[in-house]
Amino acid sequence: MSEKEHKVSRRQFLTYTLTGVGGFMAAGMLMPMARFALDPALKAGTESEYQPVCYLEELTEEPQKFAFSFEQQDAWYESEVTREAYIFIRGDEVTALSPTCTHLGCTVSYGSNDDHPERFYCPCHFGMFEKDGINVPGTPPQRPLDVYDVMVEDGKVYLGQINQRT
Ligand code: FES
Repeated sequence: MSEKEHKVSRRQFLTYTLTGVGGFMAAGMLMPMARFALDPALKAGTESEYQPVCYLEELTEEPQKFAFSFEQQDAWYESEVTREAYIFIRGDEVTALSPTCTHLGCTVSYGSNDDHPERFYCPCHFGMFEKDGINVPGTPPQRPLDVYDVMVEDGKVYLGQINQRT
């Protein structure tokens, strides 16, 4: 290669320099805007936080329905969410089940079917679940009711995220 091929003309030097400086300035202006726009979406949601629902002394071996509400930050939107759970205690173990039927999402109720007083019953398509949430074979639901993460502290019962069982 000759030395002539390596030479950068004044025009090229100016083009490279202005492109570099311009790009740097553009990035400096766009980065804060991009961060502002994306930040809420990148933050961890409050979904995994535990919410106080009831006192331990309120629980029995019979599943009881409790409703609870909490503020939820979903990216840019803040809203109040209300959830329900059937909670019962057996020995030291507290179980909290989602009342949403795993067939097509209707709401189940415990003990509402006179022929099956110790089961969860879904009126939409006659789905049934045992007291521990396991789906009754031969009824439409193909998997158990979802369970909440449970934490007990100072006599209070807190519920966390809902987990699917197979
Ligand atoms: S939605 Fe519950 S049985 Fe279909």
